[in-house]
Amino acid sequence: MGKNDFVAKPLDRLSELLADDMAAVDGLLRDRMVSEHAPRIPEVTAHLIGAGGKRLRPLLTVASARLFDYRGTHHQLLAATVEFIHTATLLHDDVIDESRQRRGRPTANLLWDNKSSVLVGDYLFSRSFQLMVETDNMRVMAILSNASATIAEGEVLQLTAAQDLRTDESVYLQVVRGKTAALFSAATEVGAVIAGASDAHVTALRDYGDALGIAFQIVDDLLDYGGVSETIGKNTGDDFRERKLTLPVIKAVALASAEERAFWTRTIEAGDQRDGDLEHAMELLRRHGALDAARRDALDWSARARQALSVLPQSELRDKLADLADFVTARVA
Ligand code: IPE
Ligand code: IPE
Ligand code: MG
Ligand code: MG
Repeated sequence: MGKNDFVAKPLDRLSELLADDMAAVDGLLRDRMVSEHAPRIPEVTAHLIGAGGKRLRPLLTVASARLFDYRGTHHQLLAATVEFIHTATLLHDDVIDESRQRRGRPTANLLWDNKSSVLVGDYLFSRSFQLMVETDNMRVMAILSNASATIAEGEVLQLTAAQDLRTDESVYLQVVRGKTAALFSAATEVGAVIAGASDAHVTALRDYGDALGIAFQIVDDLLDYGGVSETIGKNTGDDFRERKLTLPVIKAVALASAEERAFWTRTIEAGDQRDGDLEHAMELLRRHGALDAARRDALDWSARARQALSVLPQSELRDKLADLADFVTARVA
């Protein structure tokens, strides 16, 4: 069994258990991603949505609803809403980050242009709101619209925190909670809400999503310095090139000697990057144990996610969600 088999298992098991729901969600995504009026839209959405992706967030919504024996179909609409919000943010994010690879394919901004990515992203955001309105549930609409605003805040905060060596771990946490964990926690929370779960159980699911999202993003940031591009379907080294203060760098900067600090100032603050700088940055991360320390933080958040579920009655689904917390960190464990 290869490492990837091990890594993918908890996600696969949950997908299998919820296969009917996920097939319905996929049908919704495919039906709603098209437009009769602007051919560029189906071209771009087929490229990105057709490439798959892990479908992690819609799975969280469906699982959270089924956890409380929900029997309706609104959880599928909400799961599709969440995946469309996610896909819209990816289109925008790859423009902002000037990324060239996504889901193992060239990015839409590279294949078409920035304008198409921004506008099709806007289209998917709007389609996501149309989907959630169909549930006619004010509470879930509040949660998802709040999450959308929070994601944008996280991305903007990151913009101003990048290139600034004063960015510390608390700012990083704020960025990650916004840009990533907000959608994870909204995904789990709306699943519980639509199923009519108690307030205590809704809170548990929200806390689980929040901690899981934070662990997930820390891992994503670690992979940017140590991952294999073919496995993660994205280019590595993008964060250094973009001069982002992600957790490993923040930890290494905090422990930097005067000479090392001059290196970070030149490459991250001044943006003067030369051949071999990425390799040197990675050497500094290793020297200060920054990758291991960030990995420990990710494991800590994944343990918190698991812990949040402990107030729920024991069930197969609850255990699968708990295992998913290990899945997100297994990629770097
Ligand atoms: C990518 O999320 C964006 C981040 C929050 C790091 P995923 O890794 O879940 O992306 P897909 O949907 O599987 O491509
Ligand atoms: C992704 O952030 C978060 C959002 C899409 C809002 P990143 O820029 O860190 O993620 P990747 O590495 O491009 O997927
Ligand atoms: Mg990016
Ligand atoms: Mg980004």
